Amino acid sequence: MQPLRILHYPDPVLQKRSQAVSGFDDRLLDLAGRMIETMYQAPGAGLAAPQVGISLQLSVIHLPTGEKEKRNPLILFNPRIIEEKGRVSEEEGCLSIPDFTAKVSRSKYVKVEYLDVDSRVAVIEGEDYLARVLQHEIDHLNGILFIDRLGRLKRDLVRKRLLKHIAPSG
Ligand code: CO
Repeated sequence: MQPLRILHYPDPVLQKRSQAVSGFDDRLLDLAGRMIETMYQAPGAGLAAPQVGISLQLSVIHLPTGEKEKRNPLILFNPRIIEEKGRVSEEEGCLSIPDFTAKVSRSKYVKVEYLDVDSRVAVIEGEDYLARVLQHEIDHLNGILFIDRLGRLKRDLVRKRLLKHIAPSG
């Protein structure tokens, strides 16, 4: 399967709130499947629909199994955080912001409610790494990138650097 093209900052689709998913059809499930393939090929810990240019509340993440290389994807429609605890700062990156990482402060634990592929309400809890991935992907659906979570000074500096990097030369 041909991986989907991943959009990079400052593409406007990455910076707007996605539409909630209301109807489930084969096209939507097909999109989720292609996003999973794209995530594993990248490779990334997760991928949100806006990153492939589709402004819908759909994210896929890899659930760590303890076994390296083992695929264990989870598809989340309309995910939202219903509980969170603690605070922890860790290094983070994003497929839409290549070659840049920074420490981001996030909740240590989150409980997330979402719709699964059968459009049933489901809940997932995550701590540390998984909590970070869930928050990062839900942020994408709200048009928020991890660089938006940095302190103002650092954020302005990073934005300038990233925009300079993509500016046409000559
Ligand atoms: Co990302």
